[in-house]
Amino acid sequence: MPTCTVNGTELHYLDAGRGPSAVVLLHAFPLHAGMWSRQVEALSRAHRVIAFDYPGLGRSGPPREPTTMPLLAEALRGLLAHLRVERAGVAGLSMGGYLALEVWRKLPGAVRGLALCDTKAGADTPEGAAGREAFAASALEHGLRWVADQMVPKLLRPEPDAAAVHEVRELIAGGTPAGVAAAQRGMARRPDSTATLATITVPTLVVVGAQDGLTSPAEAQKLLAGIPGARLATIPGAGHLPNIENPGPFTEALLAWAAALPA
Ligand code: MLT
Repeated sequence: MPTCTVNGTELHYLDAGRGPSAVVLLHAFPLHAGMWSRQVEALSRAHRVIAFDYPGLGRSGPPREPTTMPLLAEALRGLLAHLRVERAGVAGLSMGGYLALEVWRKLPGAVRGLALCDTKAGADTPEGAAGREAFAASALEHGLRWVADQMVPKLLRPEPDAAAVHEVRELIAGGTPAGVAAAQRGMARRPDSTATLATITVPTLVVVGAQDGLTSPAEAQKLLAGIPGARLATIPGAGHLPNIENPGPFTEALLAWAAALPA
């Protein structure tokens, strides 16, 4: 994957496929763009597909401050300018969904459609934000193995496949404790996006794993109710990462969404 420096941070990105339309894939915490490998392969047959690692996760350079959603939206703006992409469908999963909503607020002209996967509109409660700060401190103290021990049971369905556990642990191991801490601190600062939902005027797909315990199907229903004309895909046999746990129907839903986007 090549790199591009935006606002002093080296971003590691992928740019696959050559279709007339572009799709951006925004990854979950505490993973990296490699979580989209199956979707990149499928989408890039008909679309240009772009994804990048957030600072300190995957192979991007170290974070210089909390990885806030405005900072990431600026990073995406710089990356799209570097790649000469003016408009794209924007799909984000969980933290990637928080970022997708920020991208809609900051760069609406660059968004052809939204796919909001296993994510939610609300901000953290004070307790939730405090929990993220404690997690950040522990990640810096105990390292990525501790992060994986904490996160994998939350990210996957109950009694997950061993292969999915292995894959997610490897994705987490691709980051750094500093990247994990910065992402937690950045998510704690994210705004409540509930009022943003009614402003969305592009085709929007909401996706949720039927067994998602982090951002439940009830959260997906709130997105669906708030976004004019949004459609829902519920992925059976999957928790918070349906793109990994049940990639067939997840990828089909994303392909159908991408194929129907306006130019
Ligand atoms: C994610 O999957 O990106 C995170 O679990 C989101 C969060 O911690 O709110």
